[in-house]
Amino acid sequence: MAGWLGGAYLWVKAFHIIFVIFWMAGLFLLPRYLVHHQEALGTAEAAAWERREALLRRMILAPSILIVWILGLCLAANLGLFEGGAGLGWLHAKLLIVLLLSGFHGWAVGYSKKLAKGQGSIAPRRLRMLGELPALAVVLVVILAVVKPF
Ligand code: HEM
Repeated sequence: MAGWLGGAYLWVKAFHIIFVIFWMAGLFLLPRYLVHHQEALGTAEAAAWERREALLRRMILAPSILIVWILGLCLAANLGLFEGGAGLGWLHAKLLIVLLLSGFHGWAVGYSKKLAKGQGSIAPRRLRMLGELPALAVVLVVILAVVKPF
């Protein structure tokens, strides 16, 4: 399958990056919403955060994670990942971090649903710190994808 994208390769890569930007925008925003939502539990404001989070999940986060994964796997096949292509250590490392990031996405969506039921169990400082994890992942993933150090 290596090289199967042919002339579509650059287009697929462009849309991969476009949807990465949408996904990351959502992943930077949702943890901020969670902090505000948790602070607002028990007040009239909580319902507004619940609505904002549901909209962000439905309109940005869910479609973009799906498209990033589909296009990313097309690019990976194009590079010969599934045929054991050589020199793809960077891609294996990138996939591991992106899997962890997808897990973070799942956790944040789950916590948002928990807050919607009025249950918040994470200390505010810890919740703020968890919100920094996507930034760390972006730094590592972009270096791996662009520099391809190994
Ligand atoms: C969801 C799973 C993902 C897969 C399977 C994947 C896979 C890939 C592959 C195979 C390439 C092509 C590299 C090439 O042809 O040279 C690529 C490019 C790229 N990816 Fe991903 N990716 C994923 C998610 C992400 C994420 C989350 C980010 C950023 C946070 C990202 C950032 C980039 C960038 C910046 C490039 C362009 C690299 C370049 O050509 O210089 N990707 N991706």
